[in-house]
Amino acid sequence: MTFTASRLDGSKPEQYAQLLEQARALLAGERDRVANAANLSALVYHALPSLNWAGFYFFDGRELVVGPFQGLPACVRIPLDKGVCGAAASTRQTQRVADVHAFPGHIACDAASRSEVVVPLVLGDELVGVFDLDSPEPDRFDADDQRGLEALAQAFVESLA
Ligand code: SME
Repeated sequence: MTFTASRLDGSKPEQYAQLLEQARALLAGERDRVANAANLSALVYHALPSLNWAGFYFFDGRELVVGPFQGLPACVRIPLDKGVCGAAASTRQTQRVADVHAFPGHIACDAASRSEVVVPLVLGDELVGVFDLDSPEPDRFDADDQRGLEALAQAFVESLA
């Protein structure tokens, strides 16, 4: 397989629609969660500007364990009552944090991270894990980013079914 990333253009929602199409093509016909998480991390990390980490944590029944990602090595295990990732997993609500230094319990894996968005991954009733993106820029993620990333996370979850 040769993957050619096409340049995203247009408004931000249009760019996310193009990225979603690329993600669906990349995940099509494959159900392996490590394979799909690895490729989706690489796609997103290289397509979106100003990221220093993009990847997955999977729920092992007790806590979150780091999965495929792009960026610097990260904390391996995160309890559900810790950090932005734990908050997303335990509330099953996307956490969009404009200033990670102001988030109580934020876990600094890469000291460069200033803002973060974490989308929970839920298949049926079951918590699969979270999709986490970090940026070195404060307030990097807006509501369009949140919607676009939630759609990508949904495509990932659907690929496992
Ligand atoms: N900052 C996250 C930890 C994971 S890293 O960003 C890769 C948190 O507070 O949950």
